Amino acid sequence: MYQKGGLPQYTDFPEPASQNDDEVLVTVKAVAIKHFDKGVAAGSHYSSEAPKQNGRVIGGDGVCLLANGTRVYAIGVSGMLAEKATIRKSYTVPVPDGLDDATAAALPNGIMGAAMGLKFKANIQAGDVVLINGATGFTGRIAVQIAKHYGAKKIIVTGRNQQSLNDLLSLGADETVSVLQDDENFKAQLTAIHEATPIDIIIDYLWGHTAEMILACIKGDGSFTNKIRYVSIGSMGGDLIQLSAANLRSVDLKLNGSGLGAWSKQQVGQLISEILPEMFLLAVQGKLKIETTRVKLEDITDLWNLDVPGGQRLVVTI
Ligand SMILES: NC(=O)c1ccc[n+]([C@@H]2O[C@H](COP(=O)([O-])OP(=O)(O)OC[C@H]3O[C@@H](n4cnc5c(N)ncnc54)[C@H](OP(=O)(O)O)[C@@H]3O)[C@@H](O)[C@H]2O)c1
Repeated sequence: MYQKGGLPQYTDFPEPASQNDDEVLVTVKAVAIKHFDKGVAAGSHYSSEAPKQNGRVIGGDGVCLLANGTRVYAIGVSGMLAEKATIRKSYTVPVPDGLDDATAAALPNGIMGAAMGLKFKANIQAGDVVLINGATGFTGRIAVQIAKHYGAKKIIVTGRNQQSLNDLLSLGADETVSVLQDDENFKAQLTAIHEATPIDIIIDYLWGHTAEMILACIKGDGSFTNKIRYVSIGSMGGDLIQLSAANLRSVDLKLNGSGLGAWSKQQVGQLISEILPEMFLLAVQGKLKIETTRVKLEDITDLWNLDVPGGQRLVVTI
C-alpha cells in the first residue's frame, strides 16, 4: 500500500474482488518496478489518478497464477504488488516454460517501450537505420535487440555511461555516441553518421537537450531529405525542448510519441496476442537478453528506491 508521494508499506488489506465476468482473482508471483509505477506512486505520471483516502496498492502488471494454475503475465485491475490481485482475463499472456517469473514480469514494460514505438509509430522496415537516444537503460537495451530482430541495418546508440554503451555493442548496436562530450562534438559525430548512413528512425528515451541537438543534426538546407520517423518514448533528460519551426519545415520528419494513450485498442490487442508472445519466445531462446535485481515483497519499503546496476530492472518476487 502507498499514499501519494510516500514509500509503499508492506501491510494487510482486504482481498480485492472481481467486478465482472472478465475479472479474476490471481496469486501474484513477480512484479517489476518501473518508472511508470514510481511515477504513479508519486502522482507524477500523466496517467496517475488521485489516490483513494486509505492508500492504494501499487504495481501495474506482473506474473501470476490463475485459479487453474496457469502462469500468465497480466495487467492488474487492482494493484499487483500483493499476494492476491484482480486482473482482466482478456489481457493475459501465457508465460512459456523456460522463462522464470522475474524475467517474464520485467520484459513486458520494456517490450512496450521498444516494440510499440518501433512497430506502430516508426513503422520499422528491414534495412532501416535506427538511432536510439538514451539506449543504456533497461528499455533501451531491449530496443536495440528488437530493432535488430525487426531487421534494422544499422543501430546507433547514445548514452552517458561508457561501460553500458560498450555492452550495447554486444547486444546488436553498431556505433556509440557519448552524450557526455561537448555539444559541438556530439553534433559533429552525429551529423557525420547521418551523412554517411541517413537515419530513418529515432527512438528517444531522453528528450530534453539531446533531442534538441539531434533535431539540429537532421536539419535540412532546402534540398530533398531522408524521411525520418522520430518517436519520443521517455524523458530521462527533461520534459521540454525548444523546437524551431524552420528546423521542422526543413526535413521530412514525422514526430510522435509512444505510450499509454498514444496506442489504439487494436495495437494494444496486438501487443497482447502477438508481440509479447513472440518476444517471450525470443527470450526463452536466448535472443532477447535482460537482467533483473530481485527483492522480496516484505522488504519493499527499504528497497523501493534501490539503485539497481545500469540496465537492470528491479523485480519483487512473492
Ligand atoms: N512510453 C512507454 O511505453 C515507455 C515504456 C518503458 C519506459 N519508458 C520510459 O523510457 C525511459 C527509460 O526507461 P528505462 O526503463 O530504460 O529506465 P532505466 O532502466 O532506469 O534507464 C534509464 C537510463 O537513462 C539514462 N539517463 C538518465 N538521465 C540521463 C541523462 N540526463 N542523459 C543520458 N542518459 C540518462 C540512465 O543512464 P545511467 O545508467 O548513466 O544512469 C539509464 O541508462 C523512462 O523515461 C521511462 O519512463 C516509456
